[in-house]
Amino acid sequence: MASLPSPHLFPSAEAASKALASEIGELVASRAATGQPVVLGLATGSTPIGLYAELVRLHRNGLSFANVTTFNLDEYLGLPRDHKESYWHFMHDHLFDHLDIPREKIHIPDGSIPEEDLPNYCSEYENAIARSGGIDLQVLGIGRNGHIGFNEPGASSESYTHVTTLNEITIADAADSFGSPQNVPVRAITMGVRTILEARRVVLLAFGKSKAGIIRRALTPGVTSEVPATYLQLHQDVSFFVDEEAGSGLREQLGPE
Ligand code: PGA
Repeated sequence: MASLPSPHLFPSAEAASKALASEIGELVASRAATGQPVVLGLATGSTPIGLYAELVRLHRNGLSFANVTTFNLDEYLGLPRDHKESYWHFMHDHLFDHLDIPREKIHIPDGSIPEEDLPNYCSEYENAIARSGGIDLQVLGIGRNGHIGFNEPGASSESYTHVTTLNEITIADAADSFGSPQNVPVRAITMGVRTILEARRVVLLAFGKSKAGIIRRALTPGVTSEVPATYLQLHQDVSFFVDEEAGSGLREQLGPE
């Protein structure tokens, strides 16, 4: 039975990022206290940069991430790791180079896998998630078209890690970073919607005015493949952490404060 994810409206992106970083920090510390691992699903894009800066700050203040395993949502196909726009590069730059997560516990889809090996590679990525015990907490951003990971409009709710073709809005939004739309890779490896829905908890971050319309749609009852973020309405433990601007269309849903 579908239920609406709960929106949490924060005064700023910084406040939302700090709240999620504290939640993750408490999870990591409480598991470490009993010798247990934590599995995090991680996202890229401009949105989680503040979250990662805050996790790095927690680490500098003494929190160890040695018990953490990570799985990233997606990666462009055809980009070598050391390309400055690869998500491998992004994650190391913003997070992994600054934490004590053992390198073998970090998983990011490899965009340089040869075509013929991709099906096996994608199933093996899912197997690795399963072997780790499944994702405890998945961090998500959201595209203006409602994508989660690179699950673009039209995505199936039953998909696991797979190769996908990027939507034109996604390409337009990435064009600046790549210098032009022609330079944006057209395909990517992404966790599927089902992979995301199998995480035990999901927190979606959205900041800024450009996300207000899609956040309102994602939180309006009605699940449709045309807006993949609406699939989150099928999950039992999802929170949307939004700043004032991204939440500006939600006033009616939230009611008076
Ligand atoms: P952004 O991208 O954080 O750069 O806005 C989010 C997304 O496309 O998932």
